[in-house]
Amino acid sequence: MLKKFELVGKSLEQFQGNRLEFTSKFYEILLTVHPELRRFFNNKDLLKQKKMLSGLLIIISRRWRQPQTLASILRRIGGNHFRYGVKPEYFTIFEEVFLMTLEIQMGSNWTKEMQQAWSQAFDEMIEWMVEGYEEEKNQTRSAATFVLRHKFS
Ligand code: HEM
Repeated sequence: MLKKFELVGKSLEQFQGNRLEFTSKFYEILLTVHPELRRFFNNKDLLKQKKMLSGLLIIISRRWRQPQTLASILRRIGGNHFRYGVKPEYFTIFEEVFLMTLEIQMGSNWTKEMQQAWSQAFDEMIEWMVEGYEEEKNQTRSAATFVLRHKFS
């Protein structure tokens, strides 16, 4: 568990100072390869989006030794994505493009070991996000059921 996050943390150190360049490239590739996802960002400030993703990368590079902290942050982010209407099926597209961007940006520093570590770490992160997503979905359903029951009883 920690081994894969260690490699991920170490590879992120290479982007200190140019994280925004990395996340800009990421969104450029994501929205070019998957134009169907553009609708989620239509009324959003893309620069803010890039900065928020950079923020998550800073958290991962500082907190990879504390998986419980990472888990609770990613569960919260997953819950937010339920509210944005982004289904978990899309999370793997995000992973795929993220790894593609890493490979492009790292050039000859990108190794097979790093690719495996990132892929496993992402699977873990997505699991946490999906937990948060499902929790938010269930809470929203219970709240809606409660309101409807009182309205029509
Ligand atoms: C593993 C996958 C993903 C990760 C790690 C991730 C990460 C983040 C982070 C860190 C934020 C800002 C914090 C927050 O709002 O909770 C965010 C916001 C957002 N994300 Fe994601 N995201 C993922 C997948 C996606 C996908 C697939 C889409 C849409 C196609 C998407 C659309 C959005 C939108 C619309 C926002 C809100 C932006 C705003 O309020 O201005 N995300 N995401």
